Amino acid sequence: MQNILDKIKEIKIEASKGKSTYSAPSNIALIKYWGKYKNQIPANPSISFSLDHSKSTTSFEYQPKKNDGEISIDFLFEGEKNDAFKERIVKYFESLKALLPMLTMHHFRISSSNSFPHSSGIASSASSMSALAMNIVDMLNQLSSQALVPADFLKLSSYLARLGSGSAARSVYGGFAVWGASEFFENSSDLFAIPADSQEIHPVFQNLNDDILIIEKGMKQVSSSAGHNLMNTHPFASARFDLARSRMGEMKEILRSGNLEEFGKLVENEALMLHSMMMTSNPSYILFKPNTIAAIESIWDYRNSENVPVFFTLDAGANVHLIYPVEYETKVRSFIDSNLVVYCENAAYLCDKLGHGPEKIN
Ligand code: DP6
Repeated sequence: MQNILDKIKEIKIEASKGKSTYSAPSNIALIKYWGKYKNQIPANPSISFSLDHSKSTTSFEYQPKKNDGEISIDFLFEGEKNDAFKERIVKYFESLKALLPMLTMHHFRISSSNSFPHSSGIASSASSMSALAMNIVDMLNQLSSQALVPADFLKLSSYLARLGSGSAARSVYGGFAVWGASEFFENSSDLFAIPADSQEIHPVFQNLNDDILIIEKGMKQVSSSAGHNLMNTHPFASARFDLARSRMGEMKEILRSGNLEEFGKLVENEALMLHSMMMTSNPSYILFKPNTIAAIESIWDYRNSENVPVFFTLDAGANVHLIYPVEYETKVRSFIDSNLVVYCENAAYLCDKLGHGPEKIN
């Protein structure tokens, strides 16, 4: 990574006008990132897969301005001004300007939208920060005489995305991605995510669905950043981080061998452990809702009685993700319609699946 950072520091940029648009997916973690240190260094490695339909599309126009060291941005979210999001992007650009002086040489018009409803309780930081980071790297490529090779383009995008939101580091890839140094994944790093080698992923895991029950639409009461911070003083932190580290090895072996049953055990335990960390933080808090538990119990009953390999996971929120091989789609969707929509706000759920990663849009 250092060689890429050194290289971009040497690039001579002349301010000019240009445009770039990227869409980038949301992702769902199987081994969860929960806890971080200074400069967005994760306390443990994590592995996720990118989704297909749940994504952010961000268009990014820039034009020269006086280089007074200030960041200048107009920002639209879903076509409307959004000061909270704009402030977050200004802060993000501020944090990057030493590395990327081009950010103070241009005025930016950034416009972003999500494919999923804003009030669906689905976190958009992973998809939006990775789309933004890819636009920034694309701009760098457009303004420099020597474009980055594709692997370095993604590495730098992931590095920059991580600085915006940790989980965003993984969203610059399709399929499975690993973020955080892990002895089980060669070339893994705390600074950027890497794609998991698709040769090492059993066919049963190459076509997974992820249907998301919208248990609660509203914004969660405690942000992920606040939750990560509470891990710094958590009584179980070191045990949790050690376990997550060794679970990366277990997950790698499960993905290689195609063992669905072990997959389900590990993924569900990770989800419950994430929430148990929240419940035992100081102060403690609870993000799931009674309907989250009701849905989980119903999934367990259904799996036991019907023998369908459908497993749940949770984000830092109340919504329930149902993960299962695509060939069970008809069965699982009819189970959702008959048994689970009662637990969803306005009977809403999203149908998603493992996706192929970001797209550059012309
Ligand atoms: C529970 O990436 O949203 O989804 O780095 O503070 O932006 P920040 O946190 P964020 O945390 C996501 C946590 C998680 C687990 C995961 O995606 O690995």
